[in-house]
Amino acid sequence: MSRLISFEGGDGAGKSTQAALLVERLRLAGKDTILVREPGGTPLGEQLRPLIKGEAPASPTAELLMFEAARAELVREVIRPALRAGTIVVSDRFSDSTIAYQGYGRGMDMEIIENLNRIATDGLQPHITLLLDIEPADALARVGSQPGSQPGAQPGKRIDPAGQQKFEEQPLEFHERVAEGYRTLAREDPSRWFVIDASRPVEQIAERVWSVVGSVLKI
Ligand code: TYD
Repeated sequence: MSRLISFEGGDGAGKSTQAALLVERLRLAGKDTILVREPGGTPLGEQLRPLIKGEAPASPTAELLMFEAARAELVREVIRPALRAGTIVVSDRFSDSTIAYQGYGRGMDMEIIENLNRIATDGLQPHITLLLDIEPADALARVGSQPGSQPGAQPGKRIDPAGQQKFEEQPLEFHERVAEGYRTLAREDPSRWFVIDASRPVEQIAERVWSVVGSVLKI
């Protein structure tokens, strides 16, 4: 059992908040737990992050390979060693993000993506994947993003340190394809995927997350 738990979902679904809350709860339960995020989590990944998110123009293929390079480093340098030491790893996004965004969202070849995912993850799959499911229009309104608009300075708008919002700025249809892609993945493998209604208040989502993780890991 890998004890890798991933959070997936569209932009603004609340993954980062829920991932942090889950880590806190696992630690309170006495479990050694680390939190990682994609893209990022290693010196290479953190340097690639602003580039991937739009600091430098990149073709879809170059973008795909940067996500996979960041992932390969994270798996080998952080995730695998932690799992070997018996630590639970909570990941804010993992390889399914690439299937959802580059595959369903951008329409890139699924077979190529799956092959690259296998190489980057070294065959590692999450034990539990929590899909925070929310209508893209509601989620994007939450983060103050306006699909299809240029990055700008609207009040309340979430600005990444790199100042870029490459994916959040995609048209609504892109986010709808991503959301539908995630739902398809969840339907195809219900033993790993747990779909959680992310339109609910934060505490209710956290309770649902905990009931899934607690019962699967028998905590
Ligand atoms: P981030 O700020 O981490 O967004 P979020 O808080 O929604 O996770 O930025 C990561 C962006 O990169 C996000 O829009 C999803 C996208 N992404 C992909 O397109 N493919 C991938 O493989 C991963 C990991 C992320």
